[in-house]
Amino acid sequence: MASIQNKVTDETVEAEVGSTILESNLDNDIEHPCDCGGNCACSTCKVIVISGGAILSSQDEDERDTLDAYGWDPDEFRLACQCVIKSEGNVVIEFPEPE
Ligand code: FES
Repeated sequence: MASIQNKVTDETVEAEVGSTILESNLDNDIEHPCDCGGNCACSTCKVIVISGGAILSSQDEDERDTLDAYGWDPDEFRLACQCVIKSEGNVVIEFPEPE
């Protein structure tokens, strides 16, 4: 089991290895925008990974392209629907300021 902590609200949820940050948050009733339903097509699920990024799947070209298409720097943001938790550990995230 891993955990995901929201830096701003200090809420922490448990996350199954193999699930995404988005799935874990939604499974734990955390409000997390996801207009395209987790299909790497909208960017509304974007988060800033503060720490623990090493236990997440790496960013692929599709994720980078989607962030870029919506004007978000792929080096600064991750799409929560594409961040698969690969091992136990703790990830700290932050939601960006609303647009
Ligand atoms: S939910 Fe749309 S890109 Fe992640």
